Amino acid sequence: METKVFTTHWPDCDHSTIVYIDGDQIVATCMVSYEGKNKKEAVLWNLQVKKDYRNGGLGKLLLKAAIYDAVLHKCPSIDLEWSAHEAEGWVLDWYKREGFKVDSCYNKVRMKKDIKK
Ligand SMILES: CC(C)(COP(=O)(O)OP(=O)(O)OC[C@H]1O[C@@H](n2cnc3c(N)ncnc32)[C@H](O)[C@@H]1OP(=O)(O)O)[C@@H](O)C(=O)NCCC(=O)NCCS
Repeated sequence: METKVFTTHWPDCDHSTIVYIDGDQIVATCMVSYEGKNKKEAVLWNLQVKKDYRNGGLGKLLLKAAIYDAVLHKCPSIDLEWSAHEAEGWVLDWYKREGFKVDSCYNKVRMKKDIKK
C-alpha cells in the first residue's frame, strides 16, 4: 500500500488530499482544507474507504494522516462535519472514540479534535 499527499495552494485556502493506493487502485482518501485567518483552521472532508477495504484499520490510518498533516500546518485543532444524510450513525460514535467532540449542531454535527501538543 502506498500513501500520497497532493497539496494545492489558493489565496484564501490550502488543501491536502491524502490517498492510499493498492496496485492501480485508490482504496481510501480524504481531504483537509486549511481555512480562516492564516489558514490555521483545519477541516477534514470526504473521508472514505473503498467497501472491500473497510474494517481493516484504513479509516483510522487516514484520520491519523489527516491529523499529522494538520499538525505540520501548525493548526490547534481539526474539525469535521457528520450528517445523517451522508454517513451512518455509528460513524459519529467512531469519531467520538477517535477523540472528536461535538462542537455544534445545526443540520449537521460539527466535531472538533484538539491537536495542540
Ligand atoms: C467510515 C469509514 C471511513 C471507516 O473506514 P474503515 O477503514 O472501515 O475504518 P477502521 O477499520 O479504521 O475502523 C472502523 C471502526 O468502525 C467499526 N464499524 C465498522 N462498521 C461498523 C458498523 N456497521 N457498525 C458499527 N461499527 C462499525 C469497526 O468495528 C471499527 O471500530 P474500532 O474503531 O472500535 O476498531 C468507512 O466505513 C467509509 O468509507 N464509510 C463510507 C463513507 C463515510 O461515511 N465517511 C464518513 C463521512 S463523515
